[in-house]
Amino acid sequence: MIFRRRTIRRFKQEPIKLEKLKKLINFARVAPMARNIQALEFIIVHNPEIRSKLFPLVNWAGSLPEDQRTPEKGREPTAYIIVLVNTKIKSTYVDFDVGAAVENILLGAVHFELSSCWMGSINREKIRRLFKIPEYYEIKHVISLGYPDEESIIEPYEDSFKYWKDEYGRLHVPKRSLEDIIFKVY
Ligand SMILES: Cc1cc2nc3c(=O)[nH]c(=O)nc-3n(C[C@H](O)[C@H](O)[C@H](O)COP(=O)(O)O)c2cc1C
Repeated sequence: MIFRRRTIRRFKQEPIKLEKLKKLINFARVAPMARNIQALEFIIVHNPEIRSKLFPLVNWAGSLPEDQRTPEKGREPTAYIIVLVNTKIKSTYVDFDVGAAVENILLGAVHFELSSCWMGSINREKIRRLFKIPEYYEIKHVISLGYPDEESIIEPYEDSFKYWKDEYGRLHVPKRSLEDIIFKVY
């Protein structure tokens, strides 16, 4: 499950059932939260017209050359989840809560054979206007979702964290080795 979750940025156009998207939010609902304060709320975007308005407000694959970043027409996400923080609910370690909730969504997506891209490089101002999100909500991230139309392969880390695409359009993502990240064993 963990190894099957890879960031994917090209999707088949088969729609995702709303019921599945709600189940992903349900996985986020029970994520660990500091002091059990639950300030996170979510917007589900699956309507094609609204999707096409959100698409230009997210930025894809900053490490790749510009012409390889953005999904081509017909390979866009078929749903999005926008992660919000309701600031009327005072939380202390909200960024950790966001991380735990988002990871639950990403792993839940794998369970449904879906792929995802967690996105922090987004136009928050325009997203706020598009969805009429009140000021007391902080817009954290967007999760792009869909059935995968791209392959991603884990590579051994050598001297750069930059991921790359090969001539067949496959993504290669370097990861540090297990031996390298176990600092000490007692
Ligand atoms: C907090 C966060 C923000 C990210 N923002 C973006 C983004 O704006 N656009 C994008 O294409 N990918 C984004 N990513 C995806 C990373 O590029 C991806 O996780 C990384 O390349 C490692 O690939 P992997 O998820 O397949 O292991 C983000 C990931 C995280 C955790």
